[in-house]
Amino acid sequence: MPEPITVPRTVDGLFAHLKEKLPTLPEDEVWQKAEIAQQINELKEEKNAVILGHNYMEPALFHSIPDYTGDSLGLSRLAAQTERDVIVFCGVRFMAETAKILNPEKTVLLPADKAGCSLAESITADDVRQLKARFPGVPVVTYINTYADVKAETDICCTSSNAAAVVNSLDSDTVIFLPDEYLAQNVAKETGKQILFPSVGGDGAPVDAGDDAMIGWKGRCEVHDQFMVGDIETARAQHPDVLVLAHPECRPDVVDAADFAGSTSAMIDYVAQSKAKRYLMLTECSMGDNIMAEHPEKELLRMCWVRCPHMNQITLEDTLYGLQHMHQEITVDEEIRVRALRSVERMLAIG
Ligand code: 13P
Ligand code: SF4
Repeated sequence: MPEPITVPRTVDGLFAHLKEKLPTLPEDEVWQKAEIAQQINELKEEKNAVILGHNYMEPALFHSIPDYTGDSLGLSRLAAQTERDVIVFCGVRFMAETAKILNPEKTVLLPADKAGCSLAESITADDVRQLKARFPGVPVVTYINTYADVKAETDICCTSSNAAAVVNSLDSDTVIFLPDEYLAQNVAKETGKQILFPSVGGDGAPVDAGDDAMIGWKGRCEVHDQFMVGDIETARAQHPDVLVLAHPECRPDVVDAADFAGSTSAMIDYVAQSKAKRYLMLTECSMGDNIMAEHPEKELLRMCWVRCPHMNQITLEDTLYGLQHMHQEITVDEEIRVRALRSVERMLAIG
């Protein structure tokens, strides 16, 4: 397990730490956040808990309580390694469920009632069974942004950082890739495959997809779906020096028009390593705030009217309540968990 993030242990220390990271936040609010964060960090030790925070967490939370921050793949790897008794997942439900799939004996808490995801809601286990019946023998790759019962029907999971590597790892010309239609198109382009979106239902008769094909599904991320090529053109007209970063859940024409596409952590690393001054981030707005807190000398243009309503359900207040009352525990049916585990472990075995 890598070394965890360390933050000051006192309220005064946390206040100074947050003030430095978030200089534009009113002091009263920073003080309030520091008090809550200090209580969470004490409880974390008392309960032998680890807090995993996704890169989209709001800035005050992101900079005060997670032991580790990262993208879906990085946090899944950490969830597989932790020896703590309790995992508090500051992210969305499918991420917390993945942690539970990997750690059936541990308590996994999600500090929100729902914290869903439009991609995870876009497909059911029955949809996957129907696709498998129509394309017999074709391996199924499922994006990690799905629920456990869908993962249980699939051969291997992937995330935005390893999707092409996972597809290439399969000994098959044809794959079923679910459920993000844009990620599927972006991966099809990267792996040189043609992409098909067959209708399901009808007579349900088996179909031959042909060679070198990816069979997709019409799921979309409700956040990344909203970014258009016009947004990039406007930013470039205003700031000719801007570098454009897009998440691979964006439309393929947006990914093509961007300078870089990658997972949330890949985008963070890109900004950290680049010498450019100005960036347009086509992803959840909080991540731009979190990057600017680390790199105040860089300017991150972002479209903050496009927010992920699910990620934004996670707050410091609810995380404190969750740890105080061991509230919102994630459970996964054991028969489903065991089948889902195979597809998650197969993914984690790929570098
Ligand atoms: P990452 O795996 O890149 O962190 O993406 C997760 C996600 O939900 C992006 O919308
Ligand atoms: Fe799901 Fe999109 Fe929110 Fe990520 S940003 S959790 S893919 S709805």
